[in-house]
Amino acid sequence: MLALPSDIKLAVIGAGTMGIGIAQVAAEAGHNVIIYDLDAAAIEKSLTALRQRVDGQLERGKRSADSARALLARFTPTTSLHDLADVGLVVEAIVENIQVKQTLFADLEAICADSTIFASNTSSLSITAIAASLRRPERFAGMHFFNPAPVLPLVEIVSGLATDQGVADTLYATAKAWGKSPVYTKSTPGFIVNRVARPFYAEGLRLLEEGAAEAASIDAIMRESGGFRMGPFELMDLIGHDVNYAVTESVFNAFYQDPRFKPSLIQQELLKAGFLGRKSGRGFYHYQLKNEPALATAKPEKAPSSVQLSGSHAVINRLAGLARAAGIHVAQLNDHAEAGKAYLLVDGVYLVLTDGLAATERAAKLGVQQLVTVDLSFNLDQAPRVALAKAEQCSVEALNSVVGFFQLLGKQVSVIADVPGMIVMRTVCMLANEAADAVHQQVANIEDVDVAMCKGVNYPRGPLRWADQLGIAQVYTTLKNLQASYGEDRYRPAFLLRKKYYAKSTFYSV
Ligand code: NAI
Repeated sequence: MLALPSDIKLAVIGAGTMGIGIAQVAAEAGHNVIIYDLDAAAIEKSLTALRQRVDGQLERGKRSADSARALLARFTPTTSLHDLADVGLVVEAIVENIQVKQTLFADLEAICADSTIFASNTSSLSITAIAASLRRPERFAGMHFFNPAPVLPLVEIVSGLATDQGVADTLYATAKAWGKSPVYTKSTPGFIVNRVARPFYAEGLRLLEEGAAEAASIDAIMRESGGFRMGPFELMDLIGHDVNYAVTESVFNAFYQDPRFKPSLIQQELLKAGFLGRKSGRGFYHYQLKNEPALATAKPEKAPSSVQLSGSHAVINRLAGLARAAGIHVAQLNDHAEAGKAYLLVDGVYLVLTDGLAATERAAKLGVQQLVTVDLSFNLDQAPRVALAKAEQCSVEALNSVVGFFQLLGKQVSVIADVPGMIVMRTVCMLANEAADAVHQQVANIEDVDVAMCKGVNYPRGPLRWADQLGIAQVYTTLKNLQASYGEDRYRPAFLLRKKYYAKSTFYSV
């Protein structure tokens, strides 16, 4: 399907944060764009801010004078809907209210040609429901940009029940022609990103509630070990707790209160206090205070004198490799550990990768006392930080041997409380689980789910590709163990993961 040619005129409705960003994206691609808003002052304000941004780019040599002039000449502001009679595409970005959106599109149907495509940038409303009030619902689809629209590449192309596939294909091709990364999805709560990302916030909030570590430590572990651009608390503070909580609540209610999406009481408390995050000066962090938030990092411990390896597991083998590279002799034990049940013995202390059980339970099952679990790292070789947890029956001296081991490998160490699945492993497995469910329920295909999470929310790796690399067995076992640890439906493995586990297959062909 072909993209809309750049000589087709476009209309963006709503000159707020998203509308002006989307208008800029289309105008950069050469379209003339009519910007319509009820409020003339809102259009003027947004266009003035855009002009200032363009002037700034000009001054910094990021844009030529010709391109700046051409870009700004492509906008036509209006407060009369009748000026939209000859546009080929309307992208709506007004207030998130279904009745207001339905009324607007019904008015537009009386003004625009039958061939005009209508799109909404809604984040949370049903595309099927908005379209239901239209005479020609087949021409209507979601075109969901991410904030800031000129910067973030993802555009979710959302089909409602009545959307014509040709319309979705044209929007997909057009977004691509605009230099964006479009993905196809269906009109289901949260579409792809706002659904699959829920565990990123939810697990962080729950870990905080359970006292796994302070917010600053969880954030540091997610960044420096997990490879995420931001930790959950700094990201929620940036998004604003009013916005983030509202999305969680809307997805939770839209899924008939599925416990998987349950909002967090500690986030609700922040809302009640008016601690909305950066914009109110306080959220999980205090933005007026000059001192850095408390980040607990283990103090230096002495290096271990003996390290032995038993069994074989990608992460444990890699750790042994790093230890050898750091000049430590690692002896191979021949105690025939089951595949996937590998461990290192660091001065006699068992060091294992978390598998979703608390270290305490893991130690009891292995029949040992001195056991420490290590959390998942995005890239073990380069991660500046690792997280460790000790079994309750394990001594502090034993823990310190393992701390010293990681310090010898050049890592900072965060010691966290003994919670099932730790921090990165638990979050990544839950993201993969939600992604697998979305694929299984035909919300989107495997590639599009991964593209959406990398391009819309900057994840370092798509959750399904991550699951493949981590090993489906590791993800499935971690989820089963989390489910057993908490006895909650929230952690039940998605059927598609279960199937892949039993088929010994992967999401991507290798
Ligand atoms: P905003 O509040 O910044 O701007 C909305 C604009 O629409 C205002 O200028 C207002 O005057 C205008 N408006 C309201 N009702 C109107 C009507 N009936 N006719 C014409 N103009 C009208 O809102 P924002 O943040 O740009 O959001 C717009 C839409 O984009 C919403 O549907 C929202 O869910 C969605 N969205 C927002 C994102 C964000 O991060 N802010 C991200 C992705 C989607």
